[in-house]
Amino acid sequence: MFTKSHKLIAPSILAADFARLADEVARVEAAGADVIHVDVMDGHFVPNLTIGPVVVEWVRKVTDLPLDVHLMITDADLYIPEFVQAGADCLTVHQEACNHLHRTLQLIREEGAKAGREVMTGVSLNPATPVETLSTILPDVDMVLIMSVNPGFGGQKFIPFCLDKVRQIRQMADAIGHTDMYLEVDGGIKANNIAEVSKAGADVFVAGSAIFGADDYGDAIGAMKSVL
Ligand code: DX5
Ligand code: ZN
Repeated sequence: MFTKSHKLIAPSILAADFARLADEVARVEAAGADVIHVDVMDGHFVPNLTIGPVVVEWVRKVTDLPLDVHLMITDADLYIPEFVQAGADCLTVHQEACNHLHRTLQLIREEGAKAGREVMTGVSLNPATPVETLSTILPDVDMVLIMSVNPGFGGQKFIPFCLDKVRQIRQMADAIGHTDMYLEVDGGIKANNIAEVSKAGADVFVAGSAIFGADDYGDAIGAMKSVL
């Protein structure tokens, strides 16, 4: 589970040096990261391939930070048990990639219960997907992830219209009293736009290139936190 005492910075290890992954995770942890964001891509839902449960399992061994696993894959139900076993704390699936989203969210909770811990349910929306698609399922969602780039690659530019979607989904959640819902934004987050995203209602901020591309991870995370 995440801790909602403050707004959370979630470095995306997609931009890390994979040959030194344990060291990279330790460095962002020491630099003030709150959550580790893990991008899982299948070369099918998105045009890129990344990592699977094995890497999550090894990252789990080197940090106590919550692992926020972003599944950019089809057939997520086939892999959810393995990601839970590997130690994911939050599993986010894409609305566009799930034919039976309610069943998938139930599966995440059931697998968490089997493993003896609570695994958060997350649902992500691509930039072009309207927020209204989540209106019925919202009470079952612990975290909504608004993509602010088209998923598949790090280092892309923040798409400005996504800011309105952040406002809209926060309003939808507040309107049903779902005030403890996390709202995460992913893609093109930098120190110079994070304040605006935060003001729109987001409370978990994924950043890959802005953190791992910096000389000093502490400075990069510090610059973001100072404007939240
Ligand atoms: C994109 C991934 C992101 C990505 C963010 O598909 O979901 O998490 O790593 O990278 P930056 O912060 O560089 O846009
Ligand atoms: Zn991501």
